[in-house]
Amino acid sequence: MNTERPLRSQEWFAGNDLNAFIHRSWMKNQGIPDRMFDGRPVIGICNTWSELTPCNAHFRDLAEQVRLGVIEAGGFPVEFPVTSLGETIIRPTTMLYRNLVSMDVEESIRANPIDGVVLLCGCDKTTPALLMGAASCDIPTIVVSGGPMLSGRHEGRTIGSGTSVFAMSEAVRAGTMSECAFRAAESATSRSPGHCNTMGTASTMASIAEALGLALPGNAAIPAVDSRRRVHARDSGVRIVEMVAEDLRMSKVVTRESFENAIRVNAAIGGSTNAVVHLLALAGRLELPLEMADFAEQTRNIPLLVDLMPSGRYLMEDFYYAGGLPAVLAELGDLLHTDARTVTGRTLGENVESAPIWNEEVIRRREKPLQVDAGTTVLTGNLAPNGAVIKTSAASPHLLRHVGRAVVFHGIDDFRARIDAPDLDIEPDDVIVLIGAGPIGAPGMPEVGNLPLPRRLLERGVTDMVRISDARMSGTAYGTVVLHVAPEAAAGGPLALVRDGDRIELDIPGSALQLHVDADELCRRRAALAPAAEAPAGGYLRLFVDHVLQADRGVDFDFLVGKRGTTVLGDNH
Ligand code: FES
Repeated sequence: MNTERPLRSQEWFAGNDLNAFIHRSWMKNQGIPDRMFDGRPVIGICNTWSELTPCNAHFRDLAEQVRLGVIEAGGFPVEFPVTSLGETIIRPTTMLYRNLVSMDVEESIRANPIDGVVLLCGCDKTTPALLMGAASCDIPTIVVSGGPMLSGRHEGRTIGSGTSVFAMSEAVRAGTMSECAFRAAESATSRSPGHCNTMGTASTMASIAEALGLALPGNAAIPAVDSRRRVHARDSGVRIVEMVAEDLRMSKVVTRESFENAIRVNAAIGGSTNAVVHLLALAGRLELPLEMADFAEQTRNIPLLVDLMPSGRYLMEDFYYAGGLPAVLAELGDLLHTDARTVTGRTLGENVESAPIWNEEVIRRREKPLQVDAGTTVLTGNLAPNGAVIKTSAASPHLLRHVGRAVVFHGIDDFRARIDAPDLDIEPDDVIVLIGAGPIGAPGMPEVGNLPLPRRLLERGVTDMVRISDARMSGTAYGTVVLHVAPEAAAGGPLALVRDGDRIELDIPGSALQLHVDADELCRRRAALAPAAEAPAGGYLRLFVDHVLQADRGVDFDFLVGKRGTTVLGDNH
């Protein structure tokens, strides 16, 4: 095979010395014939399969399809596991472990004879974690997402992952749905392999991988159980072998323009706010300039085209049948850098040329958008000096400009203990403030920002209130929810200074978040703040709080930012 540079796997497998003997011989115990070591590219299949990650539980089959593709193209496939992160199972939050998994991926690639890698991504954090790890190595990389679950159906109604569950849970609390009916919906919600079927974080990140040019067209939406998902995996196996021959490394595909495309696409699909921290972290790994402000700048005049939950009505299965992401990319057209390179070897524009829209209710035409300007709004002001985000499409129109009285909770335990207390002084116009749920404070920046409303107000028919925190929220959630306040309270951010009764102004059109308390009073409050909580004594948690960056830097570890390549340091072979 012609390659533009020598294969790194040959440093392990070529020659007749002792080390080459050992490297080949032990691999042969798996029944691998001698000819596989003849200089063909070794393709790592990085698998996040786990029965504890239900969204990725079908990945053994997907890996097999990639393997067939690699062999078909003349490569040598090697599947390897990395830590998997099951969003619904892991405690306290998968975000605590995203960076750990990225280290697992990075070191696994570097330490092994891998020339190119296929990343099997699915459940929320598995996509950014694998991308970040591979980015720091910068080898030819292609993403294969596991695909969304089939649409949930129950008693004649469509049920979307997370979104409908949150709504039903609130209905139970409001007394409009019985616990029995709630339980009955459970089996109909997750009825096939695959990740969340709403435009939650998993679907968002799968779409973003495609928009960045790191996946073959169609990656975002083919349902997990559709035979075309297997074909997609197989085609990706074929393509990665060609990419190694072309030395098409991640840094040759992904540029600043690719990030701008991804941000714009995230706005057009009504994607998750989690994309903000993940894209910032990935850009940091690739040493590309990207800031929170770019999310506001790049989404100006980007229309919301996709009518999917949590902002809209439909689900990923409908999205696929309507044309999927290629149709959105084609419709966005000149709003994107269509000349951006992709893993196909062609440009983004060439990939989706004349991709049709089959259902204009699910994917709107540009001249009939769901919203004209619907991206993630980046808010700044004295309450969020380094920024905060809100998903505009998920906010209630009557709360886009709002001034209210703060009702403050110190941590999620305090919130849970008091939110339904009969004597809690809270009204629909108040602003719920959660302090201490950021990267350090929680720790791990959990998805608790979409705080449930007080039962008493739910019973009065209230469906949304302004909520503010340094936490994240599930990509499947909705509401007028300000997130990622930076710096967080635990890092000395002004959020720590908010007190019950303070007036807070949210102005989404004006991109502002303001605490109306005079500067002298804020100084007094800062001087009276209790000392910071003691850091964990040791273990991974200590590493995390000592090194985690704030939301505006992607919540990566400070020592992981940047590319480190594939050179094995201290190699004594
Ligand atoms: Fe895995 Fe939603 S829980 S993608």
